[in-house]
Amino acid sequence: YVIGIDLGTSAVKALLVNRNGQVVKEASRPYPVMHEKTGYSEQNPEDWVTGTYEALQELTSSLTGDEKIDGISFSGQMHGLVMIDHDGAVIRPAILWNDTRTTLECREIVEVLGQDQLLALTKNPALEGFTLPKMLWVKKHEPENWGRLSQFMLPKDYVRYRMTGEVAMDLSDAAGTLLLNVEKGKWSKEVLRTFQIEETHCPPLLFSTDEAGLLLPEVVALTGLQADTKVYAGGADNACGAIGSSVLNEGMSMCSIGTSGVVLSYEDRGDLDFNGKVHYFNHGVPGAYYTMGVTLAAGDSLSWYKRNFAPELSFETLIEEAAKTPAGAEGLLFTPYISGERTPHSDAVIRGSFIGMDQRHSRGHFTRAVLEGITFSLYESIHIFREGGKKIDRIVSIGGGAKSDFWLQLQADIFNAEIVKLNSEQGPGMGAAMIAAVGSGWFTHLNECAKRFLNEEKVYVPNMENKESYKNLFYIYQQVYNQTKELSR
Ligand code: XUL
Repeated sequence: YVIGIDLGTSAVKALLVNRNGQVVKEASRPYPVMHEKTGYSEQNPEDWVTGTYEALQELTSSLTGDEKIDGISFSGQMHGLVMIDHDGAVIRPAILWNDTRTTLECREIVEVLGQDQLLALTKNPALEGFTLPKMLWVKKHEPENWGRLSQFMLPKDYVRYRMTGEVAMDLSDAAGTLLLNVEKGKWSKEVLRTFQIEETHCPPLLFSTDEAGLLLPEVVALTGLQADTKVYAGGADNACGAIGSSVLNEGMSMCSIGTSGVVLSYEDRGDLDFNGKVHYFNHGVPGAYYTMGVTLAAGDSLSWYKRNFAPELSFETLIEEAAKTPAGAEGLLFTPYISGERTPHSDAVIRGSFIGMDQRHSRGHFTRAVLEGITFSLYESIHIFREGGKKIDRIVSIGGGAKSDFWLQLQADIFNAEIVKLNSEQGPGMGAAMIAAVGSGWFTHLNECAKRFLNEEKVYVPNMENKESYKNLFYIYQQVYNQTKELSR
């Protein structure tokens, strides 16, 4: 067996996977997010460790003496700042990816370094969620805490550190710190110097499938893992999602619709230029990259809509009603900016809208407009990729959005691409297990592992007529942002 650990924002989930890629058992433990002030989002790293140990204990408890776990690896929520002192103790709660206190620090980064230089060095714009702005915030507001810093880490790296005693970070997660020269795969000396961050604060860099230390004896006792089980570095949740969706070659893309939505595309070059409009990160595949756009409220917009307007109905019934209305919801349009937007606008202030309400509209039209609006927002990222010269004609869809036939067909029609549904929807956790499988030598390459572990279940092909209507509607959808921007301020 191998184990993939997905250290998420609301819970940690561990998967026990056999040599055929089947999930034999899974265990999960939730933990809280603390919002001490508006825009703050923090977690206690000890909760991640306790949750992970408990989930592992649950997985290993049913194994017989001759069943062996060859390797474990990790997928982790990105960007969160964990600060460690010289004794290895956590200095303050972790500041998470969805914490938005750092708008001023982001502005400062662009002022000091210049947008062009920032993009040339890191390939990414300064966003509140990234790690460097969080470090500058602590430096300014908590100088005593900053003074105690020995190492900074990202969430899953801290858990791995507690399990092995070794400090390390993999490239795919380091890419989201804004301190990495993404193209070269090295810490950027220039960014470090400019913001006076010591290189010794930055962990040694590894590839996702690299070995990252041995389990400490007390961890073996606490988790039921075997003393010779190998630990592999792992990757960022989006990189692991890409691995778990078989996005491992040029021309492959993934759409994941959960609370937020992500569209990402494999890149074998690190020198393309999307002008900072999409994120550009290192993949879990050594030497590869991916570009990615984010919709902040994807599934979240649908949950919000259901909670307020149809709490008594199931998602299935709501979607059935939507399916009875025509493509384009007879002129009703929704923009899903209920908590601001990332791609392409990077606008935390913009808010959503329903446009074009008419006498003849029913609840089905509204639901359809919500589903179409979320999908249009994700299409904005695909549109940027295509404008940058990328061919996107086949997309693997995972997450909640891949549970509904109607939504999968909608993705095919709006994205004008074939949409692939796989046998496994585990995404990041499966990607982490695949990293452990390759690290353990079961396969020589992630591609080979994907061939054994992942199968296509169904392919959705764009409907010619709907595709044309959506092309025209997308043009109108894009205007709504500019037309409503000032009204939200
Ligand atoms: C990516 C991002 C999120 C987190 C969620 O830039 O902020 O997808 O990785 O865990």
